[in-house]
Amino acid sequence: MSEHNIESTLHEDRHFPPHADFIKKTSITTEKLTALYKSAEIDNQAFWADQARTELDWQTPFKTTLDSSNAPFYRWFPDGKLNASYNCLDRQLAQNADKTAIIFEGDAGDVQHISYRELHTRVCTFANALKAQGISKGDRVIIYMPMIAEAVIAMQACARIGAIHSVVFGGFSASSLKDRIEDTTAKLVITADGGHRGGKIIQLKSTTDTALESGCDSVEKVIVFKRTGHDIAMQAGRDIWWSDAEQDQNAECEPVWVEATHPLFILYTSGSTGKPKGIQHSTGGYLLNAITSMRWVFDIQPSDVFWCTADVGWITGHSYVAYGPLATGATIVIFEGVPTYPDAGRFWDMCQRHQVSIFYTAPTAIRALMKAGADIPNSYDLSTLRLLGTVGEPINPEAWMWYHTVIGKEKCPVVDTWWQTETGAHMIAPVPSVTVTKPGSCTRALPGIDAALVNQEGIEITEANQGGYLVIRQPWPSMVQTVWGDDQRYKDSYWPYFDGKYYLAGDSARRDEEGYFWIMGRIDDVLNVSGHRLGTMEIESALVAHPRVAESAVVGKPHDIKGEAVVAFVVLNGDRPDGGIDEALTEELRTWVGEQIGAIAKPDEIRYSDNLPKTRSGKIMRRLLRNIAKGEEITQDTSTLENESILPQLEGKA
Ligand code: WT7
Repeated sequence: MSEHNIESTLHEDRHFPPHADFIKKTSITTEKLTALYKSAEIDNQAFWADQARTELDWQTPFKTTLDSSNAPFYRWFPDGKLNASYNCLDRQLAQNADKTAIIFEGDAGDVQHISYRELHTRVCTFANALKAQGISKGDRVIIYMPMIAEAVIAMQACARIGAIHSVVFGGFSASSLKDRIEDTTAKLVITADGGHRGGKIIQLKSTTDTALESGCDSVEKVIVFKRTGHDIAMQAGRDIWWSDAEQDQNAECEPVWVEATHPLFILYTSGSTGKPKGIQHSTGGYLLNAITSMRWVFDIQPSDVFWCTADVGWITGHSYVAYGPLATGATIVIFEGVPTYPDAGRFWDMCQRHQVSIFYTAPTAIRALMKAGADIPNSYDLSTLRLLGTVGEPINPEAWMWYHTVIGKEKCPVVDTWWQTETGAHMIAPVPSVTVTKPGSCTRALPGIDAALVNQEGIEITEANQGGYLVIRQPWPSMVQTVWGDDQRYKDSYWPYFDGKYYLAGDSARRDEEGYFWIMGRIDDVLNVSGHRLGTMEIESALVAHPRVAESAVVGKPHDIKGEAVVAFVVLNGDRPDGGIDEALTEELRTWVGEQIGAIAKPDEIRYSDNLPKTRSGKIMRRLLRNIAKGEEITQDTSTLENESILPQLEGKA
């Protein structure tokens, strides 16, 4: 852990009580919420057991609520059996079969409505197709798809037969895809010929081919959904079209009842060192908190049209596209494209046309759309909106206020939701019918979630506005189960301090006089670019893998829209370019990182120096590099530097 916490410089006094119109429609009253907090406080496990019995349909009811015998490998509802797909789809058939489950809109504006009955049929048919390809309970299936309804159908179909899916974001490169296939030893890849984004075709099948060429021996079959219809290669014996795989498959598929602890999915996320971690989630506990957060934070009601703009390649797209909203019988919007195509009115146009009532997006998108000006959203009818949400990184008060006034017309509460891939669902967030919100604060922990700030000794910080480590002191149902195939890494990453007593989130935060949480940022070397965690280490390894690069260090610096920009300091094999400028090489390295990891990780800036600043023990002085990248004055002791003349080089001044 670093020796210093970040000093908080943000002072924000504005308060926003829930609007009367919102309160009128809510199902969560102050009394109800108070009762929830109270019962969680009295007996946390009994509280979650009660929620699990109310919110989930069990094939075999659980008797044990929580098994802590192998802590920190906590196991919720271990002797209960259920099926996630059953809880999302079959439960709707009796009352809601004709209700729209999915409103899909393609990049080009093509729209499909899929009812719960139809979704059930399509999931069952595809689940049978998976079985016919030899997939059964516990097998790993990689999903590398555009943001289309079939991505959710593929996830639900895996869940239906107990196969463990691992969705890889469609923007990731062949080499990232390959790493994930190999780490999961997946038998099957589900992909598409391509997808549409901003008027362009995203190559998915050819990228899959590249990934499979260089290893991935576990893969037996590739199922390809035809989305774009452009020419792609199909390898005989290995590749099969989705529609052919579904041929003659039955439209009924009995769910495979799995233990609540059975892995529902693995999702990779960046850590500070080494390769991405395969975050393993359970079925029962995970689904429970996806549901409870839909109720408490999104106040979900039968008439809502719920739109979470996240891709299914991220945890947000798992909990608030593929599982939570369906398990609560909501109508969801799925959108293939980008917020700025064909213009910056796309989101608002879609909110108007599909009568969206709950809208959930990332600060990076809000900032980009804010830049485009208020005239654009003002030209649409946004009156169906009743609740707005944000996730992924701290939202600056200015963007929060814009969201609240320009989009929400001051009547929609804004829920700033703090959580992580590892937490599975919201942990700290407002309950919009009750909580008085403050721009930039995710407010309070939800019922049953014991979030706290501690110092390095693990002692709770009770003084207001003192920065500390954000920890969760009691296990919760949707918690990460382990790092796939690496129990030790799970322990080292999340339970390294305080005698393994507290879950360490890896964020620092402060609490104000009213106990509201204000997230300050990550404490490890992880960047948050457009709401996505990127390990600096991964970008550094990608750079060093280029033949011209000897050494590199990557840091973040604040960026108006993306939150953080990637700045890379590079030492070349051979001479430093004249004056530190070589535009062709810079472009080549950016493209290279794009190919190795994905476009999102491309350095915004590359600075060349003769060597990197290091401590006596040989550690790169990252804090110094961060200061330099931000253009701040250097206050650290630089006397240990072997060669002080690199300072102007790092500053881009020589
Ligand atoms: C990290 C988790 C959770 C889905 C999206 C990202 C940051 C997330 C907030 C928020 C301030 C936030 C944290 C966290 N973060 N939400 N509302 N306010 N920071 O998932 O990739 O697992 O990243 O994102 O730093 O630890 P993820």
